[in-house]
Amino acid sequence: MRIDILTLFPALFDGPFSESILRRAQEGGYVEIHTHDIREFSTDKHKRVDDYQFGGGAGMVMAIQPIADAIEHLKSQRDYDHIIYMTPDGLTLNQRMANTLSLAGNLLILCGHYKGIDQRIRDHYITDEISIGDYVLTGGELAACVVVDAVVRLLPGVLSDEESALTDTFQDNLLSAPIYTRPAEYNGWRVPDILLSGHEANIEAWREQQAFERTQRLRPDLLKGSTDFPVNKNK
Ligand code: ADE
Repeated sequence: MRIDILTLFPALFDGPFSESILRRAQEGGYVEIHTHDIREFSTDKHKRVDDYQFGGGAGMVMAIQPIADAIEHLKSQRDYDHIIYMTPDGLTLNQRMANTLSLAGNLLILCGHYKGIDQRIRDHYITDEISIGDYVLTGGELAACVVVDAVVRLLPGVLSDEESALTDTFQDNLLSAPIYTRPAEYNGWRVPDILLSGHEANIEAWREQQAFERTQRLRPDLLKGSTDFPVNKNK
């Protein structure tokens, strides 16, 4: 998989992409991640990338020219399965979306700033608009890191068998059962006896029951069934 990211702040990605599983995935050749500075595409003599809103209103808008040129430049080099805009008014990210995106060959992710981007970019280039939750971040960069992390860990080979994503919370619309490790007793706090019993079938049944009970108690919305992730809104 190849992921291109368009941003005004490429350095924001240095930390998240250079540690742990995202680092390993790049070093192992499972994913190539390239950040591109939108400002470098500005034809303005001061390299401006934002402008006032038509019609008035507070806040600057990211202008169409630098973003359009950046997207055209990247599109001339390869086809993208998804051109994603990170925005608080997009569809809220969930595991199903991450699964869908992990099947792509090439992703392009656009990070907004200021008040947002000129609507014509959204109308003519963007295939998917993704939010990571109902709150407003300073820009799309941290949200893009979340998407990249959620997607890359699903690429075959990135996680070892022990780390397998198949048993992750949300993969079957259930929260995971509680987990424990040694010691079996700490400060008088005991691990549930069943986990020490060695009886695999009983342990599995207990885990399923716990997962279901926790989901019912903490996230009943997950049990009401899910709606499919509508992808490629413009295609
Ligand atoms: N940009 C600003 N806030 C955001 C959010 N909640 N999700 C995605 N992108 C954003």
